[in-house]
Amino acid sequence: MYDANKSYDDPLLVYESPELVVKDLEPDYPVYCVRPAAIHRVARKFCDHFPGDVLYAVKCNPSRHMLNELYRAGIRHFDTASLSEIELISEMFDDGSAYFMHPIKSRSAIERAYYAHKVNYFVIDHPSEFEKISELIPPSSDVTLVVRVAVDNSGATYELSSKFGADLDLATTLVREVLEKGFRYGIAFHVGSQCLSVEGYETGLRMTAQILQSVGQLPSCIDIGGGFPAQYINSSGPDLEIYMDAIIRAIESLQLPASCRLFCEPGRALSAGGESLIVQIQLRKDNALYLNDGMYGNMIEEKYGLRLPVRVIQTRKFSSRAIAFTAYGPTCDALDIYPATLSLPSDIEEGDWIEFGQIGAYGGACRTNFNGFYSDVSVMVEKEFNAM
Ligand SMILES: Cc1ncc(COP(=O)(O)O)c(C=O)c1O
Repeated sequence: MYDANKSYDDPLLVYESPELVVKDLEPDYPVYCVRPAAIHRVARKFCDHFPGDVLYAVKCNPSRHMLNELYRAGIRHFDTASLSEIELISEMFDDGSAYFMHPIKSRSAIERAYYAHKVNYFVIDHPSEFEKISELIPPSSDVTLVVRVAVDNSGATYELSSKFGADLDLATTLVREVLEKGFRYGIAFHVGSQCLSVEGYETGLRMTAQILQSVGQLPSCIDIGGGFPAQYINSSGPDLEIYMDAIIRAIESLQLPASCRLFCEPGRALSAGGESLIVQIQLRKDNALYLNDGMYGNMIEEKYGLRLPVRVIQTRKFSSRAIAFTAYGPTCDALDIYPATLSLPSDIEEGDWIEFGQIGAYGGACRTNFNGFYSDVSVMVEKEFNAM
């Protein structure tokens, strides 16, 4: 049973399987199972295949457990969107570097990032943001302003280019102004999240080539962004090697000098498989289940159309006949309903536990405290979800 006097934080309790978590804690609250094996495997794959620095997109999952495991796996660079993310990285890792990759930043965040945390990469996509930064930071060849260009996001599940990114002409103008002012420049793009094809990256690098050609001066970095897919029930892209082969070919054609740094900023692909969530059934009404986590909790991906893998925690013998259940989250809002039915044993009942995989990306980061439901209990589980 949950024990309020016991610390469930670092170092986390370690279990071999979710079954043993449930046996020990009997949790009536959602429990995150951090899966270090999955985190290390994917982080190593990115670091081994990408010919530059892998910046983890902290927004995707800023939990200390996730950050610690990524660090242990070799990640030292972090794409940060806010001052608080920069502060978190500075506090946790003496040799970690934060890059301020949000195109819109408050003046105080820019100043604190630069003066207090020595951040020297800042993304811009508009003349007003450039003006703001120029007023706050003295122009210097130690500071790189990375111009984000909008690329076609049609290969992605979540598009990001309608909100951010300059078109080719504006991006070229911005680069010229950055150089005139005395900063160094870089080019960034984001193909959209859960991007299922390599074309977006190829297009982004073609646009990058066009900018480099018109400007005639070499950049200090090229940043191909995030967007690499994670594996969901209804959505999975090609293997990482396929992306990397195409990206490396396109980068080689740019003929960049060795001094030009290359960045990628994966969030979802690095963290999705690194956590699962144990959820308890609070009530069964015929073929409807009331769960203790839902749309206002960790299920943002379900809400927007990605289907998470789900399994029953084997605390007893279940019927081998699976049926479709309508599932509701715990809040009083009727919209707190799972968009797709869950296929679970026909004899599942109140008090049983199920486990959602691939929850590590955006699930915990986007949870709310609506109706007072907010869980923050994590444990470490040695087996990977897929191995269950
Ligand atoms: C600037 C930037 N970089 C990286 C990411 C991470 O993207 P993903 O989780 O699709 O890899 C995002 C996500 O919104 C982003 O806005």
